[in-house]
Amino acid sequence: MKRLTFPTGFLWGAATAAYQIEGAWDQDGRGPSIWDTFSHAPGRVYENHNGDIACDHYHRFQEDIEQMKKLGLTTYRFSFSWSRIFPTGVGKPNPAGLRFYHELVDALLNAGIEPNATLYHWDLPQALEDQGGWLNRETAVRFAEYAAFLFREFKGKIKLWSTLNEPNGTVVGYVTPAFAPGKNDPSLHMQVVHHLLLAHGMAVREFRNAGMGNANIGIVIDQWQRVCETGTPAEREFAANETDAYYIGYLDAIFLGKYPQSLHDRFSFEVRPGDMELISQPLDFQGVNCYGRYVVYTDEKGNVCSRFDRYPRAMYDAVQKIREYRPDVPIYVTENGTACPDVLGKDGHLHDQDRIAYLRDYLAELHRAVQDGADVRGYYCWSLMDNFEWGAGYSMRFGLQYVDYETQERIWKDSAYWYQTVIAANGFDLEEPLDASGGGIQYAATLVQPEKF
Ligand code: NOJ
Repeated sequence: MKRLTFPTGFLWGAATAAYQIEGAWDQDGRGPSIWDTFSHAPGRVYENHNGDIACDHYHRFQEDIEQMKKLGLTTYRFSFSWSRIFPTGVGKPNPAGLRFYHELVDALLNAGIEPNATLYHWDLPQALEDQGGWLNRETAVRFAEYAAFLFREFKGKIKLWSTLNEPNGTVVGYVTPAFAPGKNDPSLHMQVVHHLLLAHGMAVREFRNAGMGNANIGIVIDQWQRVCETGTPAEREFAANETDAYYIGYLDAIFLGKYPQSLHDRFSFEVRPGDMELISQPLDFQGVNCYGRYVVYTDEKGNVCSRFDRYPRAMYDAVQKIREYRPDVPIYVTENGTACPDVLGKDGHLHDQDRIAYLRDYLAELHRAVQDGADVRGYYCWSLMDNFEWGAGYSMRFGLQYVDYETQERIWKDSAYWYQTVIAANGFDLEEPLDASGGGIQYAATLVQPEKF
């Protein structure tokens, strides 16, 4: 048995995103986002699910904060819905939308929970999509205006800000039909990436100009290593291309101010003088989203594909990868978690041992990174509660709390009780040593891997 204790002051959190939990999609003056349009179009999302009601957090945030208090969370990561604040993305702010976020942030502060706000979690106002969305450079300018408004509005209240969550989630919406806006044109990849990162850079400049005192700003990137199953030349090429396009391309741009040459070779996109300087401005922290890794393999028909692999050491590697770029950068793990085939028992309990094992192993790997000198300041479990999992609708449950979507009741899974003890102790006992292969402890339960990955 080994006791793993995290640094004093380490923040323990849970994460959510506006479209995935808020509901109230057309209430109090909110404008539509690309996810409203996409999910309302038949056949786009699993069983035509949508975020119209979701977890009804817009009306239940007070109760949700009560649950956070019970869990012992010291921080909570949420995102602003751009179109709740600016219904068409620009112009005059919507007072009711703004009031909601003020009430949310005030209630968090009163509860002693540090708010961590993301400005953009994939829900572009539809009105901006109608003007070209992320293919239009002007969208980055609109984003910076929206960001500057929120900096002024929440100055002194919110100390942790992220510009973008996982730009990949937006890019996928332009290069495949799976996510909003569902453009399905792979050639658009880098133009979308570049405009997103430009938006990030312009927002960081606004943040610095706004004199935000002791508040910090960063960006959240999802880090996915790729390994090849057999290592044929085709697998290697696939893995290298995906790594640059969906992973290293972001880190090179943010930390080194340049894209890998392979991305210039494969895609046509416009970069104007000064863009890369804006994109690579120093950040106060790096947000790491880590779920696992991809295994690149060749199927029976000879096609090269990739599949999700649960691999706890990905957490250690993700943190170390950031340190290779900038050894001293403060890090927050802004997302980590898993979907499990959660079934509520007749006794009203949900025994998700598998999720507990997942969280335990990834946290043990995070602890190892801290022991090796990484400046990790906090960890956010994805997610506070089950919610709208994008293209998979409500079919995938990632929550610490089970949501009964009929009644909106929140029911603690065993993992929530477990996480509560981890927070209270600022760590946990690891009963078995970590598997040296990085695969973690072998699990008794069979895991149904999230389809999306
Ligand atoms: C990535 C995203 O940021 C979040 O929105 C999503 O629900 C989780 N990870 C799980 O897929």
